[in-house]
Amino acid sequence: MEQTEVVKPETLDELIKILHKTFESECINVEEVQDIMESYESQPHEWRKYAKFDQYRYTRNLVDEGNGKFNLMILCWGEGHGSSIHDHTDSHCFMKLLQGQLKETLFEWPDSKSHGDMVQKSQRILQENKVAYINDSIGLHRVENVSHTECAVSLHLYSPPFETCQTFDHTYYQGWTGTKIRPWLFYESSALSQPSPVGESWE
Ligand SMILES: [Fe+2]
Repeated sequence: MEQTEVVKPETLDELIKILHKTFESECINVEEVQDIMESYESQPHEWRKYAKFDQYRYTRNLVDEGNGKFNLMILCWGEGHGSSIHDHTDSHCFMKLLQGQLKETLFEWPDSKSHGDMVQKSQRILQENKVAYINDSIGLHRVENVSHTECAVSLHLYSPPFETCQTFDHTYYQGWTGTKIRPWLFYESSALSQPSPVGESWE
């Protein structure tokens, strides 16, 4: 079988250019995208401008809109910050660690007829520069920065881009909760900037 050689991106800008080129194709190879993202070596001075932290919860910061085929976001996780358990709305999701470590816990989809504990499938610690992949057929997940001393920063690619997902109570399945996500939080261009409504959650 023919092996596609991955071009190593030397900078974040180069990574974005290569991803644009890759997503021009009708057929996207998950492993290839994973390899491209993994081969970029995180350099904080290249992504620091997108890394806006919040005292109380993790933030999502748009980096690139990917010509509508994907979007790239930087998520900033303060000490002890974590997501709820969520799905990915039929999107492919790649998550690369730019700084620190994140714990990913995978769960089975709950049986819609039963109420009970969410079933945990696996757990792992994601290390700097590594790339994790998930889609709805793999399951649901929760991502957490379990450190109480170090923050974490991750680069997420979603294809196709999505704006809502479903969240689940962490110990007990109580039904679907549609949650609006806001990828444009903190984005610097006024054309895309959206205010952050108070009290709304995002994944
Ligand atoms: Fe996720």
